[in-house]
Amino acid sequence: MKADKLRKKYLKFFEKKGHKIMPSASLIPQNDPTVLFTTAGMHPLVPYLLGEKHPLGVRLVDSQKCIRTQDIDEVGDATHGTFFEMLGNWSLGDYFKKQAIEWSFEFLTKELKIKKENLAISVFEGEGEIPRDEESAEIWKSLGIPKERIVYLGKDDNWWGPAGKTGPCGPDTEMFYWTGEGSAPEEFDANNELWVEIWNDVFMQYNKTADGKFKPLSQKNVDTGMGFERVVAILQGKDNIFATELYTTILKKIGEISGKKYEDNQKAFRIIADHLKASVFMLAEKLTPSNIERGYILRRLIRRSIRYGKILGINENFTSIVGESVIEIYKKVYPEVEENKQLILDELRKEEQAFSKTLERGLREFNKMSEDGISSKEAFDLYQSYGFPIEMTKELAKEKGIDIDEQGFYEELKKHQDISRTATEGKFKAGLADDSEQTIKYHTATHLLHTALRQVLGDEVQQMGSNITGERIRFDFSFERKMTPDEIEKVENIVNEKIEQGLQVKVKEMPIKDALDEGALAFFRDKYPEKVKVYTISDEKTGEVFSKEICSGPHCDTIINMGHFKIIKEESSSSGVRRIKAILE
Ligand code: SER
Repeated sequence: MKADKLRKKYLKFFEKKGHKIMPSASLIPQNDPTVLFTTAGMHPLVPYLLGEKHPLGVRLVDSQKCIRTQDIDEVGDATHGTFFEMLGNWSLGDYFKKQAIEWSFEFLTKELKIKKENLAISVFEGEGEIPRDEESAEIWKSLGIPKERIVYLGKDDNWWGPAGKTGPCGPDTEMFYWTGEGSAPEEFDANNELWVEIWNDVFMQYNKTADGKFKPLSQKNVDTGMGFERVVAILQGKDNIFATELYTTILKKIGEISGKKYEDNQKAFRIIADHLKASVFMLAEKLTPSNIERGYILRRLIRRSIRYGKILGINENFTSIVGESVIEIYKKVYPEVEENKQLILDELRKEEQAFSKTLERGLREFNKMSEDGISSKEAFDLYQSYGFPIEMTKELAKEKGIDIDEQGFYEELKKHQDISRTATEGKFKAGLADDSEQTIKYHTATHLLHTALRQVLGDEVQQMGSNITGERIRFDFSFERKMTPDEIEKVENIVNEKIEQGLQVKVKEMPIKDALDEGALAFFRDKYPEKVKVYTISDEKTGEVFSKEICSGPHCDTIINMGHFKIIKEESSSSGVRRIKAILE
């Protein structure tokens, strides 16, 4: 089955079962998470899994663009990709185990025509106060899965979430497909790698709280996720994701440019194909390569591709040519890659031109360095003078079997106040901001800040992103120059004045068109669903509206007790983008 057909089939199947099809959310998480990218289909749905009402209802289905960056160094094997799509269907407090499992079974056996003889199942064996999931096992048995094909596993295998430190989570049941020759063994052995996991139904009925407790949620949810590329490969009888049409034209292009054979250079071809695919999708969301956070990940991916390009002997500008083949594959399903084609290809070209100049010289420097180990200073020099991300230096060192003083590198870096260690490590792991009172206050404060900035600096100011923790707001916006101390003070004063006035926060659901007609700010570049929530912050007495934004929340009801707003830093984030860090005292 072709990839396009699987995607359509999945959406249609669940649409027929009463689900509303949602557009994929942005790769940049909207609900103020502590992660840089959307890592799973459920990620954009966290507020709704926690009980907020979703504008499209209680049954949802989509194909979500995802990026996972923990596995960058594993790309090249059969199953790891930095960019992937996840097919998912959700019940927000509606149907539960029976329906979810029956539909999964129906889709696999009727729509995908997978024989039930080739399926095996795992369910949660129970732990602590959470019971063994006999209910799911019984449902599977009632569908004809023999008990030898059902195993009970612990939290490491059959529990999903929360995506971060806190949030919705629960036991899951996973479906496995036999990829071996001949008929599948009667008994399911989860350690046999020929059984490949294809789908995961999570029963999200708990909320993990900051003190590590599992509190029952007010509603029982279903969150399912199917790794799209992997299932396409299986349905086509391929043993790796790179053998499907989601990759083959990209690999062919790399072969044409390099004159090399894929069979002889699998790792390099796969790394380039995966990394540039992820880069195209990031660039389509108007991210640009930089030395911090998302932009840094993007830079790492492009630069690693360029290095592997060199290994293949490519000397010409190739990333944009490969990028074009990525756009061809996805332009119908994710039109943003076509709409931003020029920008994507220009950015790739620019980054390649800049790095190609220094890569060769940097490699010469690296080769001169001592076999006894790379010192912190040397690693920093490679970073500073030749643009080598530390991960690249690490990879080079590993290839030569030499050590590198990574810790020292970060200390060196700190001294130069460039990217922070947390930005390159911890924060790239999955995790969502909690919904603590303080985080919600900060979230509401970003709306105040946004309007205040527009009042002081002009309407060309647009929010470009935000990241909120319980400790601070980080807010990126489009603006060409440094703000003056006077402007900063004015912005603070406006926000504090509004807090003192105790404006009220109101939310209303409406069609996206009406929201835009009413002048609500809509700064995220992804496609909005038909119906959206609009948060208005206004003075109830005078009726004067201070801020109106499309947003999924959550927010405070009133801002009177929010505290004193203070900007602690204003700096450049990337070209044309400024960054403010602010706190509520
Ligand atoms: N959240 C689960 C996963 O990512 C199911 O959607 O596998």
